[in-house]
Amino acid sequence: MAKQLKLGAIIQGVGGNMSAWRHPDAVADASVNIDYYKRQALTAEEGKFDLVFIADGLYITEKSIPHFLNRFEPITILSAIGAVTSKIGLVGTLSTSYSEPFTVARQFASIDHISGGRAGWNVVTSPLEGSAANFSKKEHPAHAQRYRIAEEYLEVARGLWDSWEDDAFVRDKESGQFFDPEKLHRLDHKGEFFSVQGPLNIGRSRQGQPVVFQAGSSDAGRNLAAKSADAVFTGHETLEQAKEFYADVKARAAAYGRSEDDIVIMPGIGPIIGETEEEAERKYQEMVGLVTIENALDYLGRFFEHHDFSQYPLDGPFPDLGDFGSNSFRSTTDKIKQSAKEQGLTLRQVALSSVTPRSQFIGTPEKIADLIQQWHEEKGADGFIIHAGTPDGLQDFTRLVVPILQERGIYRTEYEHDTLRGNLGLSIPENRHTKSRRLAHVSS
Ligand SMILES: Cc1cc2nc3c(=O)[nH]c(=O)nc-3n(C[C@H](O)[C@H](O)[C@H](O)COP(=O)(O)O)c2cc1C
Repeated sequence: MAKQLKLGAIIQGVGGNMSAWRHPDAVADASVNIDYYKRQALTAEEGKFDLVFIADGLYITEKSIPHFLNRFEPITILSAIGAVTSKIGLVGTLSTSYSEPFTVARQFASIDHISGGRAGWNVVTSPLEGSAANFSKKEHPAHAQRYRIAEEYLEVARGLWDSWEDDAFVRDKESGQFFDPEKLHRLDHKGEFFSVQGPLNIGRSRQGQPVVFQAGSSDAGRNLAAKSADAVFTGHETLEQAKEFYADVKARAAAYGRSEDDIVIMPGIGPIIGETEEEAERKYQEMVGLVTIENALDYLGRFFEHHDFSQYPLDGPFPDLGDFGSNSFRSTTDKIKQSAKEQGLTLRQVALSSVTPRSQFIGTPEKIADLIQQWHEEKGADGFIIHAGTPDGLQDFTRLVVPILQERGIYRTEYEHDTLRGNLGLSIPENRHTKSRRLAHVSS
């Protein structure tokens, strides 16, 4: 059987750009509309998607994307989605720079139990400096420091998730024994950033531990993913870029003693689908037509700490910003600066292409399916996170593209499992204490 493609659906309320909410078919309050979130999740589950994905951020200004101004917190909305779905994975973003590992390990373990083993955590380090002001911190930690924190944070979370061995809770009414004390383990972690005694006050789920995603594509981000993530959310404009990233992260994972299949790489794509090429182009132009140049400058500015781009001539060359942006969305700002320089783009061109990029994934269902298959087969991706390029984008994708992928035998027609790990083809991590007892037993 051909290697199977994995799919995720990012549910993003009124959309990931400034103006999608103005589209005639958009649900204008979608970002805080529980019925909308449930509908999208059920559509994705009908399409046998591996997971739904809820992104997040911790700082807004009046120039932020409308969806960011008024939206659900990921863990809360995932709990609600979990209650109306039964197979699809539930992945949410939570920042390691502005939270405590004990709380977060507990929250994701809880969702994992509530959903029967479908939880996933997208580990991010938070790009925006303004976040510090919302969390009683004097300053936003520098990029390298954020990743050092994230690495230790993940070690702590994974340690806490193994507090209880799988058969620790005996619940023997007869004898009065609720748990086996030999199968309870304190963490006693004392590190550079965290001091956490444990144990965690919730046990392991059916999938052992929640699936850990990582989003952040800089050098430090790639290392973190390679060392400790089960899956990666990334973004690329071309197959060449995707292949470079894929090969690089898998090679880094191998250097940490992991196998290729231990880490699932999923770039985000925003397909715009039409029954004909012309219809797809018309849909794309409709989205482009909703964006004003002011919107585009604000959108671009966010990647650079909400920098005010209106101070530069619109049709002059993209301004030289030096190191600006490297402490926030580093991998994204590096790409923007590089392509502006290489292609000699004006500020207007950079702003407009960043808010409504002309991606390759605009066209007929066959064309989109061909591209997906090519990226998959040529090792640019193990799967994709679909963000709807139009208000009906997810429905179009499941109705028109999914059947083609199924017919070609590269995508499931039924869920293989009911846990997220099972569907992603990831093994259940053995509890570290059970493992060391097993190994000690074998060697004695
Ligand atoms: C594809 C992708 C998705 C991301 N999603 C989020 C998100 O939902 N919330 C967030 O705060 N940061 C998100 N980030 C940003 C990371 O948290 C990170 O802080 C920032 O990109 C800097 O890391 P990098 O330079 O390693 O990419 C994302 C980054 C990428 C590349």
